[in-house]
Amino acid sequence: MLREVITSVAVCIILLLPATCLRRLPENHVALFIFGDSLLDAGNNLYLNTSAKTNYFPYGETFFKHPTGRVCDGRIVPDFIAEYAKLPLIRPYLEPGFSNYTDGINFASAGAGILPETRPGTIHLKLQLSYFEEVVKRLRQQIGDEDAHRLLSDAIYLFSMGGNDYMALATDPKSSVLTAAYKKTFMTMVLGNFTTVIKEVYALGGRKFAFQNVGPIGCMLATRASSGINGCLHDPSVLAKMHNVALSRLLRKLAYQKAGFSYALFDYYTSLAM
Ligand SMILES: *[C@@H]1O[C@H](CO)[C@@H](O)[C@H](O)[C@H]1NC(C)=O
Ligand SMILES: *[C@@H]1O[C@H](CO)[C@@H](O)[C@H](O)[C@H]1NC(C)=O
Ligand SMILES: *[C@@H]1O[C@H](CO)[C@@H](O)[C@H](O)[C@H]1NC(C)=O
Repeated sequence: MLREVITSVAVCIILLLPATCLRRLPENHVALFIFGDSLLDAGNNLYLNTSAKTNYFPYGETFFKHPTGRVCDGRIVPDFIAEYAKLPLIRPYLEPGFSNYTDGINFASAGAGILPETRPGTIHLKLQLSYFEEVVKRLRQQIGDEDAHRLLSDAIYLFSMGGNDYMALATDPKSSVLTAAYKKTFMTMVLGNFTTVIKEVYALGGRKFAFQNVGPIGCMLATRASSGINGCLHDPSVLAKMHNVALSRLLRKLAYQKAGFSYALFDYYTSLAM
């Protein structure tokens, strides 16, 4: 191994083959890019002016021993995936002073929706995409077009979003008068914006996608506590289910339309509602 390294360094020096010598990525390197809401936020909201910020005890108590901005007592899904992939913890994009994106980066923001109007002040999905576009530019500068292309097409793109949009709709004081047609239009808007972002990530080279669908949001503890009823709220979970059916259809369609598009869909709803 060492000998190979020495030989390849020698070859580089003697022959000056820039493409091979300047390769700054190890073989089989896989980066992880994360787009999402509170389920995936690793601390971006700490740097925002929003009340959706979990910078106090007991958040973080079991693993990090201090609050990190994760909406959790310990680690979140991206932390476990990173560990499994032998990557360091993937950092929040807004963390100051960090701009090495070779392992990926996390854009997720607690409270954020696919639609910008869902929770102003958080990083909605389109804004997460614009951050990703900045990252792509930066990567091209740092490691060159060829390696950046390789990194982006080998990377995993993890998404978990939509729950906040449907919660906002269901808890809108006007929602009792919202018609079925309006709800359908709303869903078309949510999925339309989601599709735009997925297609853009694909256009920038992304090929390997992973999605977590929307959970039984009518059963979230906060929802149940604030509704004052015993049990789950019906409407939000129905919206989530409808969204999930449409999402799985949408992903099948994208895989059919887009060469090389591959994805995994985790049925988070069913895993919680069992
Ligand atoms: C933060 O947001 C609040 C409420 O929207 C606003 O009153 C305040 O001026 C903002 N602070 C900064 C530093 O932008
Ligand atoms: C960026 O991080 C990677 C992997 O952690 C490391 O190998 C590389 O040297 C870093 N690059 C810079 C410019 O710090
Ligand atoms: C995206 O959402 C906006 C509302 O924020 C809506 O006006 C627009 O039609 C949606 N786009 C698509 C492609 O559905």
